[in-house]
Amino acid sequence: MSVLSIIEFPDSRLRIKASPVTRFDSELDQLVHNMYQTMYSAQGVGLAATQVNVPQQVLVIDMSENRSEALTLVNARIAQREGTQVYKEGCLSFPGMYAQVTRALKVKVEACDTRGKSFVYQAEGPLAVAIQHEMDHLEGKVFIDYLSPLKRAMLLKRMEKQRKASA
Ligand code: NI
Repeated sequence: MSVLSIIEFPDSRLRIKASPVTRFDSELDQLVHNMYQTMYSAQGVGLAATQVNVPQQVLVIDMSENRSEALTLVNARIAQREGTQVYKEGCLSFPGMYAQVTRALKVKVEACDTRGKSFVYQAEGPLAVAIQHEMDHLEGKVFIDYLSPLKRAMLLKRMEKQRKASA
């Protein structure tokens, strides 16, 4: 296993649309293992393959405190959305940045596991936020796309400042 490097905004590779996985092989297993290791070592709760420069529809999530609730979704589709919630989101591609985003409260997802076996998964609250956030990455979308132009400009300014300070 190895820790992969995470693409950070404004890298244009974050805008690439991921393709569906067609081969459920050891290469996919390897990718998923590496994605977990990368996410855990960066202390994140979710990671999309797009963020590690692999434009395939693979995402991993673990929101548990003791890192014991791994959720791997391959070729995920949202079949149903219900309600709305506002949640303060962060992203490994935007270190140190957080913003309130409005998303569906509950989602029903159809996906495959790493063997290609399909299943249905239902989530609500923060877990539903994470699923929607990571699925957006696979569409080339990032969480600041949801902010008003003013809020986005403020966030990017702060990010630039932080980057200069740490350079
Ligand atoms: Ni993210």
